Amino acid sequence: MARSAAITTLHLSVELWKEGEVEKSTRTWKSFRWEGSLALVGALAVGAFGLVGSCESDKTGQQPGGITGVTGAGGSYGSYAGGDELIAATVQSLVSGRNTFRYDTFGDEAFWGDALKLHQAIAGKANGGVGDGVSPETALAVGLKVDAEAVPADVAAGIKAGTVDLKSPATTLALLKLNAVVGLTGFFATTGELRSVGIQCALCHSTVDNSFLPGIGKRLDGWPNRDLNVGTIISLAPDLSPFEQLLGVDRATVVKVVTGWGPGRFDAELALDGQGFRPDGKTAATLLPAAFGLAGVGLHTYTGWGSVTHWNAFVANLEMMGKGSFDDARLNNATKFPVAARAGLAHVRKTPDLISGKLADLHLYQLALKAPPPPAGFFDADAARRGKVLFNGSARCAGCHVPPMFSEPGWPMHTAAEIGIDDFQAKRSPDERYRTTPLGGLHTRVTGGFYHDGRFAKLEDVVDHYDTFLGLKLSGGDKADLVQYLRSL
Ligand code: HEC
Ligand code: HEC
Repeated sequence: MARSAAITTLHLSVELWKEGEVEKSTRTWKSFRWEGSLALVGALAVGAFGLVGSCESDKTGQQPGGITGVTGAGGSYGSYAGGDELIAATVQSLVSGRNTFRYDTFGDEAFWGDALKLHQAIAGKANGGVGDGVSPETALAVGLKVDAEAVPADVAAGIKAGTVDLKSPATTLALLKLNAVVGLTGFFATTGELRSVGIQCALCHSTVDNSFLPGIGKRLDGWPNRDLNVGTIISLAPDLSPFEQLLGVDRATVVKVVTGWGPGRFDAELALDGQGFRPDGKTAATLLPAAFGLAGVGLHTYTGWGSVTHWNAFVANLEMMGKGSFDDARLNNATKFPVAARAGLAHVRKTPDLISGKLADLHLYQLALKAPPPPAGFFDADAARRGKVLFNGSARCAGCHVPPMFSEPGWPMHTAAEIGIDDFQAKRSPDERYRTTPLGGLHTRVTGGFYHDGRFAKLEDVVDHYDTFLGLKLSGGDKADLVQYLRSL
């Protein structure tokens, strides 16, 4: 009781203080001082009740106001003014951001489970669902990954010994109960039946290190899951009517579009413009990008839709179908985004808002994820050294890919003509340009190809493209060196 009273006092006072901070230019100094002193009272109260360090954002994601990091007696503003408390508070925020990235569905089980009934297809008829169900073998075959650290030792031993049946959907349900399927959360009834299923950021933007078995290992957050066949998973859903209604097409068409994506791809613009295929008949989906190495980069997504946090809110609300708030008036453009304009996606408000309170920590976590260095033996160091000179010099790569972000500081956007490709995907975005892709951790995305649509199967093909398009006249040796440098990033 005393503790929650203290927290309430502090919430109130710190909020008042923050308000004073924001608006101090328009307020009188006197009133600001008064609010500031209230914050001190709150801080003292916290100190008295010994609450320092006890504030974590809870699982519902509501942020604990400004409590975190306020030290007790004496009331320091260290975590607001760059003191050591800031570092401690930031670590807490990172942990909370990581939890969101890995485990939060934002309430999207109302869509993936309740509406699409995907859980029924996963469980199968034998377990109260429909059809054959999804065995771990099938799940791994469509690219889902298992978090080995969430699997207890006896189950792990059983998997290794072959006594755990990987052909049975019941085993998939057991793994879901352990919260061991990366990016997918099962919701179970007290009777044990799978009653719904939701997805997380980690579904598309994490994989595992295969240290236990292929597809089973430690989580690698931010690595694109280029094995994941999102379209095939969606096509298993017993009820696709939400997609049919949104796009104004029948089930067969939805299935044709999503199964056309293939592994490691998803089409984030489909729900905006309804374009399932490019003019050449190929899928309009893009590759799943890396969600690491993004700090310092000016704009995000292949076509530079906005900041990391803009896109996080976008995806959580409009793609994952979580419950939150989102605004992007550009989606009112009915010529460019007919589906979004019709569905009112430019302005979304859902209650309770399970997203907005998590964006700040999620943003911090996203920016903290560094591009992972390549594994030993992935590149030839001497060749890479020569390639680096070319990259920064005569091959003109660093003209756009500025190290160490390998994208332009500032506004990293280029027309299709500037990079020598077609403008189909660029035209599906507000600025009609492609964003210079940060090149760190290229080794994590050798599966699926390069450029937004994977049009270049290998790095050699990318270099050949620039050589021809920019008229670089690189020798065979130069090209090989450049490739080794790219492999070293
Ligand atoms: C269904 C798969 C999927 C899920 C789930 C997903 N993303 Fe993505 N993400 C993508 C795709 C595809 C793109 C590229 C979109 C584009 O360029 O149009 C992308 C782009 C991004 C980018 C931009 C990367 C860059 O290079 O600038 C970030 C950051 C990101 N996602 C973070 C998240 C976060 C955080 C979540 C959870 C809130 C999330 N994503 C959920 C598929 C997904
Ligand atoms: C005019 C600016 C510009 C120059 C010059 C440039 N790039 Fe790029 N680069 C881009 C853009 C924009 C993309 C994103 C294209 C897409 O996704 O369709 C890109 C993508 C790439 C990719 C693919 C990354 C991925 O994960 O898909 C690689 C690799 C790459 N560039 C390497 C190079 C090399 C090597 C050079 C020099 C020979 C170079 N770039 C020169 C702008 C540039």
